[in-house]
Amino acid sequence: MTTVSPTPQPAMRLRELIFGAACAAAVRAAARLGVADALGDRPATAEELAVAVHTEPGPLRRLLRALSCYGIFAETDDGRYTHTEMSRLLREDTPHSLRYISLWCTEPWTWEAWPRLDEAVRSGRDVFDGLYGKGFFDYLHEDAAESAEVFDRAMTTSSRQSADDIAGLLDLTGVSSVADIGGGQGHVLASLLEKYPALEGTLLDLPTVVANPDPRLRAGGALASRVRLVPGDCRDDIPVRADVYIIKNILEWDDESTRRTLANVIRAARPGARVVIIENLVDDSPSMKFTTAMDLLLLLNVGGAKHSKESLVSRMTQAGLEVGEILVVNPYLHAFECTVPG
Ligand SMILES: C[S@@+](CC[C@H](N)C(=O)[O-])C[C@H]1O[C@@H](n2cnc3c(N)ncnc32)[C@H](O)[C@@H]1O
Repeated sequence: MTTVSPTPQPAMRLRELIFGAACAAAVRAAARLGVADALGDRPATAEELAVAVHTEPGPLRRLLRALSCYGIFAETDDGRYTHTEMSRLLREDTPHSLRYISLWCTEPWTWEAWPRLDEAVRSGRDVFDGLYGKGFFDYLHEDAAESAEVFDRAMTTSSRQSADDIAGLLDLTGVSSVADIGGGQGHVLASLLEKYPALEGTLLDLPTVVANPDPRLRAGGALASRVRLVPGDCRDDIPVRADVYIIKNILEWDDESTRRTLANVIRAARPGARVVIIENLVDDSPSMKFTTAMDLLLLLNVGGAKHSKESLVSRMTQAGLEVGEILVVNPYLHAFECTVPG
């Protein structure tokens, strides 16, 4: 039976960390094979699971054994496998599923980029141009359709998880219009429109993203009559007048893109408009291991960064926004309430 070992000695701990790629690859393989979806509430043998997910039983047992060491699936005394809280999160049908997040964080391009981390640390720049001859989002949308789809689904999953928290936190009473800039498929926007029946919304994102919005926002969808879909690049222009602008998990790229985006919001908005910037922080957060890893991935793919509270506030202030309250959305997100000056 595989058991999760207690905290090992430093040398073994380091050995385990060095093999972190094997753990990430094992999670990815399980997610792609649909192992968690195939395993129900009843313990199953590797042979039974292999039939369900179309693999060889021996290698599948090895995969499950490796994952069980991390508490992702568990092995019973008679050699069957059962779910754990973590393995259930790999199911597609589970509320707050992490299936697409796990795929997104282990997409093929990440395995090309990670070995160049020393290069990125030396230069302070992304490695995407060197690898693919173009920027990350161009690569994603022009050359990696499957990755783009995984990205959109991962963003929707994570938006869905935080959308309720954001809708619960933000008071939009009396607000007529809200715009989500770089709002992905529009899950946060849809949650806000559902909560406030008189609210009108705009979703601005890259053309290929707004072409495939949340079903509620599409033509014929329940919220379609109150939504405008605007394809565009927020660094070039934000042709949207709204009472409240939401900018969530966008200001993680290079500083020039942040500067241009905030300048475009201020240009588009009327004086006194609210700008709510929502981000994960690399300080003052209980999710440091995850956020600092994302910070390094952002350096590799877009030359970006997750911010500390101070670095984010300084960029908003430099852009000319008045920074007000900083609210805790949930254990991994903070919301910065800003105002466009008069
Ligand atoms: C990390 S995701 C965040 C999505 C969404 N705001 C959320 O929190 O779920 C970044 C989003 O920015 C969009 N994006 C990237 N570059 C953009 C640009 N230049 N103009 C507008 N949107 C952009 C991406 O398509 C993606 O939907």
